[in-house]
Formats: sequence, structure tokens, C-alpha cells
Amino acid sequence: MPISFKSLSYIYNKDMPYAHKALDNINLDIKEGVITAIIGETGSGKSTLVEHLNALLLPDEGSLQILDYEIVAGVKQKFLKPLRKDVGLVFQFSEYQLFEETIIKDVAFGPLNFGFAPEEAIKRAAEALKLVGIDQSLFEVSPLEISGGQKRRVAIAGIIACDPKIIVLDEPTAGLDPQGAKEIISLFVNLNRKLNKTIIIVSHDNEMVYNYCEETVVLSHGKIMYHGKTTDLFADKEKLKEFNLLEPQIVELKNMLIEKGFKISSEARTIEMIAKEVAGQVKR
Ligand SMILES: Nc1ncnc2c1ncn2[C@@H]1O[C@H](COP(=O)(O)OP(=O)(O)O)[C@@H](O)[C@H]1O
Ligand SMILES: [Mg+2]
Repeated sequence: MPISFKSLSYIYNKDMPYAHKALDNINLDIKEGVITAIIGETGSGKSTLVEHLNALLLPDEGSLQILDYEIVAGVKQKFLKPLRKDVGLVFQFSEYQLFEETIIKDVAFGPLNFGFAPEEAIKRAAEALKLVGIDQSLFEVSPLEISGGQKRRVAIAGIIACDPKIIVLDEPTAGLDPQGAKEIISLFVNLNRKLNKTIIIVSHDNEMVYNYCEETVVLSHGKIMYHGKTTDLFADKEKLKEFNLLEPQIVELKNMLIEKGFKISSEARTIEMIAKEVAGQVKR
């Protein structure tokens, strides 16, 4: 089942003097079962793009096919609730959206809203909280009493508890320390590997994108500049310059090793993968 933008445009403040075309004729097919990164400068349209995936924003022109749902500009949609169960969107700074009295209630809100019985909703909430590393001793605590990083995890658990097929994350690691960021990303890598979830991540962290995202989309001024394999993008110095992207340190390291005569496959994306390949060649 496809995730497919067809000639989609979106205009903020349409028909107003200060109307702004934030997405301009987007044609894009996102692969299922894969982790895809959406990158680009601030204001390039990343949030606007991903907010179409669960119909938080509706297109002004064109259409979007997602799973079994088709959203067409100007056509009233009747399936928003099932769509939002299947496509979970974790907002940027999602921690500001916690509102229930206790953490467990906050996470159970989604499953309850999508029709699960209260007991089942609590069970799912508890499982999701465990998955994101929130200890049971915190379940009955107010979300206002925990740290920013923990709040972010609770917000993410709220989406995971609904068991969406597609998980969309808008800058999930912004403002987290490197260790916290790594833990959050590992969680989504596991959801992708073990449960075959389709993951779409908006990010500024090219290092993370290179390590974990098989595919990358580059946006600029509301247009798609690149969509393809992440390794191909970051191997292309001209493209990096054109799109004003920093070369990840890991690519620099790869290039250095290749210069020294090591054979490093283009598929090697993490320090662990590179180390393994180098070790094999040192022994010989
Ligand atoms: N609510 C809004 N009203 C008017 N313009 C907006 C609104 N949200 C975003 N924009 C504009 O749309 C463009 C794309 O924004 P956004 O999708 O938030 O970009 P990104 O997530 O890549 O930083 C920017 O020029 C931004 O100023
Ligand atoms: Mg944004």
C-alpha cells in the first residue's frame, strides 16, 4: 500500500494578501517498511509536509494516497479517525501536549479515543511506557513533574500505544542530549526492524539520518530537491553543496579509510558496520 503525494500543494492563509505556498506541487512516493528522513532548511516545508500524512492539514491542490485512504483537495473526508489511528504523528516539542492528571492516563488517551476498552487501553499504555523506558513507579505521577526528556518519551508512548502502521516524527530528538537522542532513535529502529513499522522522521541531525535512515527526502522552499538512498545523497559532494548540507563525520571517516586503502562498502552507515569491515581487512 502506497504513501503517495500527487501534485500536492498547500497554501497558508489562502485567499489572503499574505498567502504563502508552503508546499509546491509535491510528487513523492514514500516506501513502506522503511525509515525515511525528511531534511531541509528551517521553513522549507518539512512540518507542513508531514502534517498532511494524518490529515492534520488538507491539500489545497492535488492529492495524497496513504494506505487505503485517499485525500483529494476540495473533497470532504469521512475517514479521519481510522486514518489517525493508522498514522501516528509525534509533533515537534510534543512534550507540551501532555494534559492528563497522570502519565498512564495521558498515554491511554489515544487508545481510548480510538475505541479500545478502558482495560485494554491501560494495558497498551503500560506496554508503550515500558518500551520507551518509563518506569512503572512513574505511571501515576503527573506529567508536569518529570523531566523534559521523560515528557518527550511519554508523548511518544502515547502514539505507540495506538499501534499505528506508520509513525511520523517531527524533530523527535531536538533539544535532547546525544545519549537521550540515541535512545529515542534506537526505539524507532527497533519498531521498524521488529514490527516492520514505516517510520518517517523530520530531522536536522545528518549524523543520525546517515546512521539510521535508509531513504532521504530533501525539501527546499516547498519543493522536493532529492529523494533516494541516504548513502547516495551524502556521497555526492556537489549535491551537499547545492542543498547546503553538512557532510556527516561518519562519511568523512569512511572517505579517510578508503584513502588509506580500506574497502568500505557504500552500505556501511554506522560506526559499528565500518569497524566490522575494517577489522576483517586488518586480520588478513
Ligand atoms: N501557521 C502558519 N501560518 C503561516 N505560515 C506558516 C505557518 N506554518 C508555517 N508557515 C510557513 O510555511 C513555510 C514552511 O513551514 P514549515 O512547514 O513549518 O517548515 P519547516 O518544518 O521545514 O521548518 C515557512 O515559510 C513558514 O514560515
Ligand atoms: Mg518544522
